Amino acid sequence: MADAVTMEKIVSLCKRRGFVFPSSEIYGGLGSSYDYGHYGVLLKDNIKQRWLQAMVQERDDIVALDSSIILHSDVWQASGHVGGFSDPLVDCKFCKKRYRADHLEDAQCGQRPSKRPGEASDCDLTEARQFNLMFETRVGALEETGVPVYLRPETAQGIFINFKNVAGIARRKPPFGIAQVGKSFRNEITPGNFIFRTLEFEQMEMEFFVPPAEADEWYRYWVDERFAWHRRYGIRESHLRIRPHDDDELSHYSSATSDIEYLFPIGWSELEGVANRGDFDLTAHTNASGTKLEWVEQDGSRYTPHVIEPALGVNRSMLAFLVDAYDEEVVAERDRTVLRLHPQLAPVKAAVLPLIGKNEDMTGRARKLYEELRQVISVEYDDGGQIGRRYRRQDEIGTPYALTIDDQTLEDDTITIRERDSLAQERISIARAREHLLDRLAEPWSSPKVASLLP
Ligand code: GAP
Repeated sequence: MADAVTMEKIVSLCKRRGFVFPSSEIYGGLGSSYDYGHYGVLLKDNIKQRWLQAMVQERDDIVALDSSIILHSDVWQASGHVGGFSDPLVDCKFCKKRYRADHLEDAQCGQRPSKRPGEASDCDLTEARQFNLMFETRVGALEETGVPVYLRPETAQGIFINFKNVAGIARRKPPFGIAQVGKSFRNEITPGNFIFRTLEFEQMEMEFFVPPAEADEWYRYWVDERFAWHRRYGIRESHLRIRPHDDDELSHYSSATSDIEYLFPIGWSELEGVANRGDFDLTAHTNASGTKLEWVEQDGSRYTPHVIEPALGVNRSMLAFLVDAYDEEVVAERDRTVLRLHPQLAPVKAAVLPLIGKNEDMTGRARKLYEELRQVISVEYDDGGQIGRRYRRQDEIGTPYALTIDDQTLEDDTITIRERDSLAQERISIARAREHLLDRLAEPWSSPKVASLLP
């Protein structure tokens, strides 16, 4: 049996294969910031596309929006973020480190990493103080006259303040939703769990506006719907659970929230939140702006819709997919590391490999096939080094299929197609390769990973 999936293994694979790099590395790094390399970009992009597919493309009651990152500062005053979006922090006067007062259990003492803050004899912790998580900046040329603004800590507010614009032109009545994908920023003080919690991250949020009497029903609907989305793209059911918030955990705007949790290497943690935000946001912005954000029925009656919000981080979703996909096994007495990603999420769908890189007949055929396939899917051509090495490289980035051009191809126009998960190989005609591949990629997929390989 393979060892457990640790965060170190994921971090190492991500760096080795160019998914994720520590940010500003040549300057010593910047905590809780990461840069995404080629495969990281492709994987994140596939996650966003699959989310948009489920939220917008496959439905007729949700439309898309892309609002600004920097909004009028009154937005954050009205939303409650200026007053209440904060974490309790303590400082250690001795080692000058800062910790979340509610996460001291998970933190390491700045002097003695084997101990928790406050446990070493030199520790000198202050009382907890509230620390706002929003990054503040200025709009305007001059430091003195510029207007203070914030980088958005969630994409949701951009949706609420556009309710009237969208409802006016979308020709939809509640229940209907507005979906948005974009960057958010939070000045997080974290114990450093890779891309789980970072200073900047992408969110995929959808605000679903419903008649008040239907709010509970739609809340339950979206919890189930979102759970099913994670399953649809291969996350194992054994590693997913729904955890309703206790009353004392609820955000200031929420009457009910459930976290969809994943069993990350750091333990069960929030992957996605689904909240019943009631009429909190539309009422707050109506009161603060003077613009009525309400729904007017044809008979002239009006009401403020309630909002159900599923909110998922792209980066956190990527981490869950990576952890769930990571696998190690021994094949023909050699170690193999493989990312068993859902084929629709895999950064590269197929690799085209001439068996002998120096054989021009083979490379010519392979390049021709590669150029045909890349018109429709993300493919890679690789003719460098031993074929076994090339397979292993593709396994590590999660490529579901490898197409090999060999001696037999030159005789009968067939190639082998090797399947990442089962390692099964089949010969198919080169003329049918594109059609065959597209059919295989569209097949349902579930993780072959054994349940005993717990992170
Ligand atoms: N609009 C509601 C909202 O923002 P949230 O629970 O604070 O709710 C939603 O964030 C999701 O965004 C989380 O479930 C998580 O997936 C992701 N997320 C939040 N903060 C994050 C951070 N600092 N780094 C990475 N992802 C984060």
